[in-house]
Amino acid sequence: MHRIAYVNGDFLPLEEAKVSILDRGFLFADGIYEVAAVLDGKLVDNALHLARLQRSCGEIALALPLPLAKIAEVERELVRRNDLREGLVYLEATRGAAERDFPFPQGVPPTLVMFTQEKPLVDSPAAKGIAVKSVPDIRWARRDIKSVALLPQVLAKQAAAAAGCQEAWMIEDDGTVTEGGSSNAYIVTREGVLVTRPISNDILAGCTRKAALALAAERQIRIEERPFTLEEAHGAAEAFITSASSFVTPVVSIDGKPIGSGTPGKLTLRMREIYIDHARKSAE
Ligand code: PDD
Repeated sequence: MHRIAYVNGDFLPLEEAKVSILDRGFLFADGIYEVAAVLDGKLVDNALHLARLQRSCGEIALALPLPLAKIAEVERELVRRNDLREGLVYLEATRGAAERDFPFPQGVPPTLVMFTQEKPLVDSPAAKGIAVKSVPDIRWARRDIKSVALLPQVLAKQAAAAAGCQEAWMIEDDGTVTEGGSSNAYIVTREGVLVTRPISNDILAGCTRKAALALAAERQIRIEERPFTLEEAHGAAEAFITSASSFVTPVVSIDGKPIGSGTPGKLTLRMREIYIDHARKSAE
């Protein structure tokens, strides 16, 4: 089947979906992106993704290319046209195509593109547990903005892949874990407390994180939002990641050392089940 993409108002075959080489997303990474999961042909936690898109665009003074409700409509139409049951919708908004110059161009319409990717999310091989590699966090000071400037994450995840790992955890100079290359990071202490770094400019405010923590709180699971070190993670009972593309995924080793028993933890598996149940029930 031909994949259909969306470019500035048009639904086109993927091969014909193109933007200018002068696009500021290409030249300066002057753009914002979002990735939302699709389950049973419906979008998961999409209101959270749209709210974050609006916030990220606001933080770089990029006007929304379309009202949020219209963006959601386009996403749903794209899912329909691609007959997507399970996978991801990728969306990118940039400051448009203009003569190359650093300051914002005047009167240039933003670029908006979207495409879908098929991906097994529930019966994913990663659900059995992934290996993580730690890397220094070399990123900028505004990691709360979902910017398309992802070179540090590309290098981090490539280093992880080269070491046979499926995700990188990025580490500050003080030894604390910020987050995964494309996910938020968690440990479960030997006392059964779920620990994850609080929201700040140091990390991306994950939509899956937000939903998962609310679900955990409703179930009286003990949560501590505080930084934790790589050393503490090595001694933890369990570890896991969350993201739109992995939901809740167990981490079974870090830098070759097993976490807990070296198999997915009990609370981790419970969190995965709770989140997938929520995703199925609330997707729209
Ligand atoms: N990444 N932290 C970073 C650095 C991320 O890139 C992501 C998501 C997350 C988790 O956010 P959410 O739960 O809203 O997906 C945290 C997406 C999936 C990506 O870049 O493909």
